[in-house]
Amino acid sequence: MNIGIVIVAAGRGERAGSAEGPKQYRRIGGSAVIAHTLKAFLDWSKAGPIVVVIHPDDKLLFEAAVSGLAMERVTTVTGGATRQQSVLAGLQAVAALEATHVMIHDGARPFVDRALLDRIAARLEAGDDAVLPALPVTDTLKRVTEGRVVETISREGLYAAQTPQSFRLATILAAHERAAAQRSDFTDDCSIAEWAGVPVAIVEGSPENVKLTVRRDIIMADERLSAAAL
Ligand code: C5P
Repeated sequence: MNIGIVIVAAGRGERAGSAEGPKQYRRIGGSAVIAHTLKAFLDWSKAGPIVVVIHPDDKLLFEAAVSGLAMERVTTVTGGATRQQSVLAGLQAVAALEATHVMIHDGARPFVDRALLDRIAARLEAGDDAVLPALPVTDTLKRVTEGRVVETISREGLYAAQTPQSFRLATILAAHERAAAQRSDFTDDCSIAEWAGVPVAIVEGSPENVKLTVRRDIIMADERLSAAAL
């Protein structure tokens, strides 16, 4: 088994306030978010080839962010206008690097840990074609229309999806290529697997593995790393 890694980092991160640049290049704990994310995979012994999908305008930002990391196993490709397009570009690149399986990870999730990666890899080794790290939803969920609650949704059986969502490479590449011809609104990769009829197994996600989305997430991540360094 050769587990390729695709890290998507081609988004503009508008929800995090684009005046300060894309969120994956903001510094937390002294390094760029993307450097933390990439290092987590560089430090994981089972990682094969790594492809980072970046925006064409971000080449210099990326080089500056990862200087100091061992980049021999890392390739970059240019992403597209949607996450779905960026992932497809990454999958096509990792397929050319002889990977048999792939983990697709958001560049904006820098706190992914080795134990989670091992849990996912164990399911791939056991033969699952698609593996989703997820955690049960703990908040009470409301459906809101025009500023008013119209419904409380039972959280029974509801999970919050994380990344890296992980697959047998040929399976997800075929599903993504088929999806690209028909739809462009998939926001994660397991939903493409589901759409293609591939069964998706769940492993327990990590509460630490949050996605940095808004400015406050970045500030809190920085505080957390600074506190850990004391
Ligand atoms: O915007 P959101 O936080 O959902 O993006 C999730 C991940 O997908 C981020 O790491 C982002 O950089 C990436 N992405 C991408 N190409 C896009 C849009 C998002 O690589 N066109």
